[in-house]
Amino acid sequence: NYFVFILAGGSGERFWPVSRADAPKHLITFFANKTLLKETLDRVKNLVPEDHLYILTNSNQLSLIEKTLPDFPLRRIIPEPEKKDTAAAVTLATAIAAKESEQAVIVLLPADSKIENKEIFRRQILSSLRFAQDENCIVTFSIPPKFPATEFGYLKLDKSRYCVKNNEKFFPVVQFVEKPTAERAQGYIEEGNYGWNSGMFVWSVKTFLEETHKWVSPLYRFVLDYLKDSSGWEKQFKRLPQISIDYALMEKTDKIFAIEAEFDWDDLGSWISVAAYLENDEKGNRIKGKVCSYGSEKNIVVSHSKLIALCGVKDTVVIESDHAILVCSKESLQELKKLYALLPPEH
Ligand code: GDD
Ligand code: MG
Repeated sequence: NYFVFILAGGSGERFWPVSRADAPKHLITFFANKTLLKETLDRVKNLVPEDHLYILTNSNQLSLIEKTLPDFPLRRIIPEPEKKDTAAAVTLATAIAAKESEQAVIVLLPADSKIENKEIFRRQILSSLRFAQDENCIVTFSIPPKFPATEFGYLKLDKSRYCVKNNEKFFPVVQFVEKPTAERAQGYIEEGNYGWNSGMFVWSVKTFLEETHKWVSPLYRFVLDYLKDSSGWEKQFKRLPQISIDYALMEKTDKIFAIEAEFDWDDLGSWISVAAYLENDEKGNRIKGKVCSYGSEKNIVVSHSKLIALCGVKDTVVIESDHAILVCSKESLQELKKLYALLPPEH
């Protein structure tokens, strides 16, 4: 009764122009020679019975996913009729698992993280599934924070009380804060006991129903309706609130435990985190492709085909792709979603 659902419906706004709506971050090979979605699938291979592994996406990405994964059964690629964000997606996932077994315990994985140490990852996922089932709680993975990131959620762990299962420690989460301001993030790092939320969640159908009943009843009702009659679920889905599960449930519930991830993890949440994987020059510029610079420092520069030449430029992000060029100050990267909304539709 263990299920894995991969959330692969993000829109790739933060990596424009390398990614775009019809070729989002998890479906491009910019970050590795495989897509991040394929890497995610390979990581969970045989972890659960084959027909308990699903991919949830948006209908506009369906054909690209089919092309990327020609061997993956279409029946287990679920297209959502509208982009409703992760609260709706995880609710649909829970409903699908519940229909198979009311005792189902599920793990939800983003399709866009980079993870090394696959064996440790698999061991910790299995321990979490058992713990979530036995203790009727939600399990999250806490990542030691490296800097005061504002693109992640933060988990505050109570290190004085923990439970042990399969030799793993599970700490109660006393606070969940989604994407804090830089100032608050800095405070959390100084305070200690805070970890980044990895965006992976484990829960049983029972726990999800109890907690959504208490905190976000539209999600609860969707699962019950789906169990009664799953035909035409798309109509109900479109009525779900557009919000991420982090804001909708995780900030509210007090039933979260966290396991400290022992594997290497990176979300590649922005050009800043991707920069760590690019070549470094003596002036602290991070570069990929043909780049030439004079008197320029701490820039992130990615060339697709043309030479990019910089003179006297600092803390700037310049990204060339096959169809557009982005020039953005590092501190404005957070605003990229707003710029994206203004782009002509063909981009
Ligand atoms: N099916 C589906 N439908 N998937 C979606 C949708 C949707 O509408 N929206 C996003 N996703 C997928 C993305 O493709 C990604 O794999 C995953 O869900 C998480 O969404 P993101 O949009 O990438 O979330 P985030 O990175 O801003 O924040 C989350 O992950 C961080 C760690 O990577 C949060 O959980 C943070 O708390 C966390 O720190
Ligand atoms: Mg993400």
